[in-house]
Amino acid sequence: MSRATGPLWMPFTSAGGGKPAAVVAADGNYVETEDDARLLDATAGGVACVILGHGRTEIADAVADQLRTLEYHCLFGYSHPRAQELAEAVSARTPGDLNHVFFTNSGSEAVETALKMARGYWRRVGQASKTGFVSLHRGYHGMNIGGISVGGLTENRSGFGPLLEGCTQVPAHDIDALEQELVYRDPSTVAAVIMEPVQAAGGVYPPPEDYLSQVREVCNRFDVLLVLDEVVCGFGRLGHWFGGHRYGVVPDIMTVAKGLTSAYVPMGAAIAGSHIHEAFVDPEGAIELMHGYTYSGHPAACVAGLKVIEILEREGLVDHSCQTGKYLQRRVATLGALPAVAEARGEGMLAAVELSGDSPEPLVAEAQRRIQSAGVLVRAQADHLGIYPPFTFTAAEVDRVVETIGTVLEEMS
Ligand SMILES: Cc1ncc(COP(=O)(O)O)c(C=O)c1O
Repeated sequence: MSRATGPLWMPFTSAGGGKPAAVVAADGNYVETEDDARLLDATAGGVACVILGHGRTEIADAVADQLRTLEYHCLFGYSHPRAQELAEAVSARTPGDLNHVFFTNSGSEAVETALKMARGYWRRVGQASKTGFVSLHRGYHGMNIGGISVGGLTENRSGFGPLLEGCTQVPAHDIDALEQELVYRDPSTVAAVIMEPVQAAGGVYPPPEDYLSQVREVCNRFDVLLVLDEVVCGFGRLGHWFGGHRYGVVPDIMTVAKGLTSAYVPMGAAIAGSHIHEAFVDPEGAIELMHGYTYSGHPAACVAGLKVIEILEREGLVDHSCQTGKYLQRRVATLGALPAVAEARGEGMLAAVELSGDSPEPLVAEAQRRIQSAGVLVRAQADHLGIYPPFTFTAAEVDRVVETIGTVLEEMS
């Protein structure tokens, strides 16, 4: 048994590391720790998922009502009304004809589903040799075997091989590199290109303005599917419902999670365009996508998702995210002038402050600790501080986050 954490084997944490900080309660844009600290949460629950802010009793009540009525009965010919309603509500807001929603429990499962859909699609249309994937350096696509195979963060891959065959990565946001890779790989062996609209976990790297439309054009020309992984960007983080809207692109398949339920209940989805779905429809009624999870479309998660969409619209939070995101970017950019900062960058309600130096990781960790002591929660990740607030953040709260980071970095210089 681990010395420090007892029976709890913590994700993404040194197995013998110190006791984790316990967050015991939260409301609005604040979280409370077990030692009674009240922290302004500029991380939306740590990893950009609690998009509506904490403590929405309306969602808790709706979930409780659903659990009292029907906790679960799904799969193999059975569904329930809330799954249908959420699929309709989501597809009414997705770009283009992304109208076929396959529910999962997480972003990682959504990615695996999308990869299987892509391979399955090509098999269905008689091009079974198209099984490979091309993705971007620094991309993050979850932690399952398919996801780390297409992921561009090598530290997530090492030690888990052999991985999925036929996956290669190219430099991010270099359209020539992508095109050359498809020529080199031979497009008749490639099922899809998978990428995030804005790279999030890899360090918050927005693409050049026209990059996504160039990728769409290259994928069309080489007859390769485009999968947009919108697990972070989807549901308003870039100030639009989806990153596809922000950059004017309709992918063939899109993955979502996090904001779909604002983390009140775990859920993800892979959402396919009509042409993808149609290829799977068998006139004899055979199952052509032999795939699913026990809890695909769990009623509690569906109800949470329906409430999230209702609240996003009732409170105008996608638009608020758009306005506050522009302000956040203007304010974060001012930190770029500090000697301790290598670069301050972002898009919408996603920002990173990268620290200077060859190995700034210990400095990032120290800065995060000091910022937390001053009452603000940002994420320490590799060489940068990550800022991804709930959409309910006010301009004054943005000011507090940026000013606290600025003061701490000045003290440390
Ligand atoms: C772009 C992207 N894809 C997939 C995932 C995996 O989602 P989950 O952690 O819910 O499995 C994440 C998680 O951060 C993500 O950022």
